[in-house]
Amino acid sequence: MAESLSPSPGAASFWDQRYRDGTDAWELGQPAPPLAVFLQGHSCAPRPPGRVLVPGCGRGHEAALLADLGFSVVGLDFSREAIREARQLHGSRGGRLHWLQADLFDAQALEASGLAPASLHGVMEHTCFCAIEPIQREAYRTTVLRLLKPGGWLLGLFFCHGRPGGPPYGSDPDGLLQEWLAAGCTAEIWEPAQGSVAQRSDEWLGLFRTPTAHHRSAE
Ligand SMILES: C[S@@+](CC[C@H](N)C(=O)[O-])C[C@H]1O[C@@H](n2cnc3c(N)ncnc32)[C@H](O)[C@@H]1O
Repeated sequence: MAESLSPSPGAASFWDQRYRDGTDAWELGQPAPPLAVFLQGHSCAPRPPGRVLVPGCGRGHEAALLADLGFSVVGLDFSREAIREARQLHGSRGGRLHWLQADLFDAQALEASGLAPASLHGVMEHTCFCAIEPIQREAYRTTVLRLLKPGGWLLGLFFCHGRPGGPPYGSDPDGLLQEWLAAGCTAEIWEPAQGSVAQRSDEWLGLFRTPTAHHRSAE
């Protein structure tokens, strides 16, 4: 009986509890190395200025990195505990780093907090897509596409393991690519990630772009 009352990964309380308990095996204590190396050195890496969202930012290491690189960043998470810790760890980086406690799938709450349609240059994904239940993935894509400007980018690490269950819920690399292409994006990079931490050899790095205004109006 008590088990049926346990929160599911779709509830903020599930994650709050894990931050409080320290049952946070995803925590790296630093930005994911493949993303950091890519952003700091790859010729295709998005460059500042620009406004970027990090959904499911957790303790905010990727959001802080982006702010240090010169982007204006919103680190979003629906876990009160995650946002509290992120703010405490990284502050506001001189006003370039904003923290928002909100559900990624609550379009009204996002808009009320300044995340209007086409208001972002970029989105950076790290272990949010694998944390949401697979049934929410279409809503994730719809949300990202709504928030990005034409020609905007999604840079992410995606967990492409085939193990059942989750979180982290796995993906099939070909299937995941096809879904972003079917959503209208182009893939500038889609390849096994380099330099992942131990136990994450099945990460893939993706850089996807939304259609430009010209392409959208031609459709
Ligand atoms: C596995 S943790 C990863 C945290 C961080 N990205 C990292 O790599 O350290 C997944 C995060 O996504 C957040 N999350 C899950 N579903 C969410 C939703 N619908 N809206 C906002 N945040 C969500 C959780 O609260 C949690 O902090």
